[in-house]
Amino acid sequence: MTELLKQSSIVLIFILVTTISFAVAQPPPSNCSLHFDDVPSNSSCGNGDWGGFLHNSCCATIFDEYLYALGQRANQTGNIFLDSTQQRNCLDVMQKFQKNVFGCGFEQLTSGAGGCSDFSIGDVTSKFGDKLRSLDEKCNIQSSDGCSSCAKSWGNIRAVPSWSSDPQSIKAETQVCRFAVLVTYSRTKIQDKDHLLTVYKCLEAQKYGKVYRGILSNNQPVAIKHIIDDENVESFAREFTSLSHIRHPNLVTLLGYCLQEDECFIVYELCPNGNLSEWLFGKDKCLSWIQRLEIAIDSAQGLLFLHTYPEGCIVHRDIKPTNILLGDNFEAKLSDFGLSKIIELGETYVSSEVRGTFGYVDPDYQRNHHVNSSGDVYSFGIVLLQILSGKRVINMNLNTPLPLNKMAKGLNRTGSINEFADPKLDGEYSAEAFNLTLQLALSCTELRQQRPSMEQIVVRLGQAHDISTQAKASTPEVSIDSYQSSNP
Ligand SMILES: *[C@@H]1O[C@H](CO)[C@@H](O)[C@H](O)[C@H]1NC(C)=O
Ligand SMILES: *[C@@H]1O[C@H](CO)[C@@H](O)[C@H](O)[C@H]1NC(C)=O
Ligand SMILES: *[C@@H]1O[C@H](CO)[C@@H](O)[C@H](O)[C@H]1NC(C)=O
Ligand SMILES: *[C@@H]1O[C@H](CO)[C@@H](O)[C@H](O)[C@H]1NC(C)=O
Ligand SMILES: *[C@@H]1O[C@H](CO)[C@@H](O)[C@H](O)[C@H]1NC(C)=O
Ligand SMILES: *[C@@H]1O[C@H](CO)[C@@H](O)[C@H](O)[C@H]1NC(C)=O
Ligand SMILES: *[C@@H]1O[C@H](CO)[C@@H](O)[C@H](O)[C@H]1NC(C)=O
Repeated sequence: MTELLKQSSIVLIFILVTTISFAVAQPPPSNCSLHFDDVPSNSSCGNGDWGGFLHNSCCATIFDEYLYALGQRANQTGNIFLDSTQQRNCLDVMQKFQKNVFGCGFEQLTSGAGGCSDFSIGDVTSKFGDKLRSLDEKCNIQSSDGCSSCAKSWGNIRAVPSWSSDPQSIKAETQVCRFAVLVTYSRTKIQDKDHLLTVYKCLEAQKYGKVYRGILSNNQPVAIKHIIDDENVESFAREFTSLSHIRHPNLVTLLGYCLQEDECFIVYELCPNGNLSEWLFGKDKCLSWIQRLEIAIDSAQGLLFLHTYPEGCIVHRDIKPTNILLGDNFEAKLSDFGLSKIIELGETYVSSEVRGTFGYVDPDYQRNHHVNSSGDVYSFGIVLLQILSGKRVINMNLNTPLPLNKMAKGLNRTGSINEFADPKLDGEYSAEAFNLTLQLALSCTELRQQRPSMEQIVVRLGQAHDISTQAKASTPEVSIDSYQSSNP
């Protein structure tokens, strides 16, 4: 498969990096204990965002200065991260160099959250001594040469196992630990700022799981996913080899892959209309009721195919709107089989550590670690609720965050289900089909035993589609006439 990539001379189209100017530098006020020596008074955006840790790449240049300043402070105090008051004071200072610094995500590195956030230099040296030595050996670079082994050694740093099993908080803790080690490393190299900036630039540019657009030599447009920073690159690859022969119109076709020791490229067919997430939540994008139902049916058919695969049920484990891609005619295709598991014939589940995306993971699976198709049904139910409502999985605007299925259930109880409908639909949907789909979505999020199978789901969605097309066909022409006459 390496051949495929080489021969096909893939053209990567890189993300356009816009340039912004910084405000004129001023001497820092005294309430921030960090010292910023020569922050550029004008600068471009960085060449990366630390794998999504920063909210955009224009935060990277000031973030490099911040890391260096933390290293200097660590030399003097033995502490690594700032507490929230200090953080605020220093962000105030940095705002002079980068206007939007409060939206960059620096506050993810604030002490007081337990674990690595409260580590001192001494803690890092005793708990991550081997990682620190590996960083020292692999990141001894003066240019981008050798960057990939430096990045790998940094990516190998993991959170210390703790009480938490929520994948989202483990990921967050892992990032904090990586930066704690990096600040400790910076402290030992603090005289050589150029070297440290080279290391930072190397690490910030890592595109963990980024997707590129490319063109094969036969002019076929493709999507190329780059996987790095995953202890599971190998097991990912194994899954891919076993799934690569699976073909279905509602699954994204895998065209090839290229596997190296520490990274992996996967080449897929390109879906020109992007992912469902941007269509549900994007500002200027809108899907009609019928389009929504058709996307739901396509996705359900893809899942049905996986769950009834003759050689054993395949559980996707990461069903969510960003993994539902849309083709030329908005036909939906499931993508990202990185977490999928095959359940051998005769078994009802396999045990596995909890993976998936916060808000979509089946609570039963979270409790007992039993993977089976009913976990996908739960996630699919959440996606259906989002297709109906255009809402996020958890409403954070309330005092107690409210999960989407609880919200829908509440509205169903009071009989006000039309309040749940996405305002972008503008009332243009069959109320009967909407209710049918809502009841179906809610049943998917019940306890395991009460959930429907994908087969039942496909049938019910088909009924909702029939009801909707009939309702549309029987709409009196008057409404079209009046529309035309009022919009000449
Ligand atoms: C620094 O903090 C003190 C009180 O802690 C406050 O009075 C002063 O205005 C602050 N200075 C700046 C520049 O923010
Ligand atoms: C920043 O300013 C320096 C001189 O002060 C100039 O050489 C450099 O081109 C400028 N960079 C940008 C990105 O404008
Ligand atoms: C680290 O701190 C010591 C004093 O505590 C200082 O002598 C030394 O120069 C510092 N190292 C660097 C590289 O700044
Ligand atoms: C989904 O689309 C949004 C908006 O274009 C994009 O930012 C995001 O990276 C996409 N997600 C995936 C997994 O492709
Ligand atoms: C899923 O696993 C549960 C036990 O955790 C079992 O009761 C159920 O039958 C399984 N479902 C399928 C479709 O195999
Ligand atoms: C929704 O409400 C109706 C009664 O209005 C009830 O029959 C139905 O079971 C409810 N659905 C769910 C999933 O709670
Ligand atoms: C929705 O469907 C349920 C069950 O089919 C029914 O009990 C309920 O009355 C319906 N709600 C509305 C608002 O039509």
